[in-house]
Amino acid sequence: MRKLYYSALFYGGTLLLPISPGELAWKLFSKKKGKIPLFHRDLICDTETLMSLPKSDRSLDECTTAFSPFIPLLTLNDEAWKSRRKILADILRTIKLDHFDWSLPLKKGDIYWDVYENLFRIGFQLIFHRAPTSSEFAAIYPGIVDINKIIKRQTGKADMECRWRLYHTVVELLKDDNPLFSDEFRALSEINQVSIVVEDLLTSICIQCSDLVCHLLLLSESFTENLDHCINETLRLYPLTDIWTRKGERGWIASLVQLNRSGWDNPNLFDPNRWEKHDHPPLISWGFDARGCPATKLGYNLSKAIIEKILQDKTLWIVPAANFTHTRTFPLGCQVWIGRGEKPTSWTFAGKWRTLFKQWFNSRLRLFDQQELW
Ligand code: HEM
Repeated sequence: MRKLYYSALFYGGTLLLPISPGELAWKLFSKKKGKIPLFHRDLICDTETLMSLPKSDRSLDECTTAFSPFIPLLTLNDEAWKSRRKILADILRTIKLDHFDWSLPLKKGDIYWDVYENLFRIGFQLIFHRAPTSSEFAAIYPGIVDINKIIKRQTGKADMECRWRLYHTVVELLKDDNPLFSDEFRALSEINQVSIVVEDLLTSICIQCSDLVCHLLLLSESFTENLDHCINETLRLYPLTDIWTRKGERGWIASLVQLNRSGWDNPNLFDPNRWEKHDHPPLISWGFDARGCPATKLGYNLSKAIIEKILQDKTLWIVPAANFTHTRTFPLGCQVWIGRGEKPTSWTFAGKWRTLFKQWFNSRLRLFDQQELW
């Protein structure tokens, strides 16, 4: 009976309501601890329960179709995963984050894709040690955008033509001498080599760091002295992943929004000072067990360096639109007005409801497409 009740509540809400499964889990079960039984799996309500599960190195969400025709590391298992994860870790150790160019346009509207393009150029430079030529940019960038548009549910179907153009251009780039790519890397199949470069590195840098930088920008008005605490607090309230699912004898599902808030005082409040104390639940936004993020250092340092550059410019103001709601996934982009001089009191952007409906529709399509919840 309990299973039926909780499953109807959670799955019904996920199908009908315009919020993500992770946000819904927190809204429905913020008072719960331990496990809630659903039809085929348990919903894990807090980090203590998550950490007490049997150790596993199985992939989390195996069903993601966002990356097609690639095979991202996070979907692999067993030996294929182990050897690729080691090669990726070696590459990440070799990447040096020195000087990089950064420019934020003075603009009124969605700046998400401006941030994304900047990060694409930084990522390309980190991997290939030079800027992309204009023809390389035209061949690669649309594919990297398409992957994120599927993940963000801004579109329902992958643009395979631009994905293949991306694939073949990276095959050409891999022919160059590059100290990042060891003999072990060169011994991998072509699709694995392209997949490491395109997904595990370039797309991850673009998506993860753009999301984090935009969250930081939107919250920067409330920042306190200690930037590390502000970044932790941003990632606590806005983890970049929505849910984790893992199969097993009895599979489970966990909402990162819920895990990061359960067990905290005033859990929904942005309060960087809470990180000064040490007796609190861990931040779960970088993952856990063997499947934790292998690029924590790069992702953290790069995003921090970018926001530092932005905050250094004391003449700049950033005003989010009055009708913009800051959520985890940027369904409406990142609607801000960035300028210098006299600061506007308020402004609104157009097209909110049309965009939200499109995003809601594409999200439902992907719930069925990926079967990630059941
Ligand atoms: C900037 C903030 C970042 C955060 C908060 C973050 C978080 C995470 C999390 C939570 C996971 C576990 C799986 C999942 O939830 O999807 C993960 C996995 C992964 N991340 Fe990150 N990440 C970040 C940046 C990056 C960057 C910059 C890269 C690449 C350079 C990267 C590469 C990966 C890869 C390849 C995996 C899959 C690991 C595996 O399955 O073994 N991440 N990340």
